[in-house]
Amino acid sequence: MGSVPFVFPMPAAIVGADVEGAPTFMTIAYCGVVNNGPAMVAIGSNPGHYTMRGIEEHGSFSINIPSENLVARTDYVGMHSGATTDKSGVFDVFYGECDHAPLIRECPVNLACRVAKRLDIGGKDAIVIGEVVQCYVSGDALTDGAPDIEKMRPILYATGSRTYWGIGEKVGDAWNIGATYEP
Ligand SMILES: Cc1cc2nc3c(=O)[nH]c(=O)nc-3n(C[C@H](O)[C@H](O)[C@H](O)COP(=O)(O)O)c2cc1C
Repeated sequence: MGSVPFVFPMPAAIVGADVEGAPTFMTIAYCGVVNNGPAMVAIGSNPGHYTMRGIEEHGSFSINIPSENLVARTDYVGMHSGATTDKSGVFDVFYGECDHAPLIRECPVNLACRVAKRLDIGGKDAIVIGEVVQCYVSGDALTDGAPDIEKMRPILYATGSRTYWGIGEKVGDAWNIGATYEP
């Protein structure tokens, strides 16, 4: 299929920033973990996106993981630019330990990030690496104090078909089921 970034699934994450004194949001599928200790995450974003203005100006942003019930709003903030549409009222916002990183109350997981590095790699998208200043998880998305994916119901994005999916069944325990394989 040629040189295409077909990684399955991708998250449907919502990135937030403050632009001109108001919170704004965009959907980001190019989002992942790049370091643990310190915790760092990266997004790939078109530098022309309105949200990028706030990330540049304040050096901070949020990554929010929406649940299935937020699928329409998740798509909405990816369909409209803050340059022409005020998206500040789409979600209920709170702020945590990182100034100008608007966090979405409706999302079970919020990461407040400080920009650690921006990489321009000569393509359409720039990479913004954020250090996670604080992670917030809704109490009702926890089981025994740990984030519970079944309670979170995150949205998976399937590139190619441009569709959103829910999670399926658990298929194994990590660092465990491998012991049942005999080469
Ligand atoms: C499912 C989905 C995934 C997206 N993923 C990305 C992405 O990874 N990087 C990106 O630059 N834009 C991505 N977009 C597009 C932006 O979310 C979209 O252009 C948005 O309107 C930008 O908003 P802004 O101009 O207000 O910042 C995605 C959109 C959708 C619907």
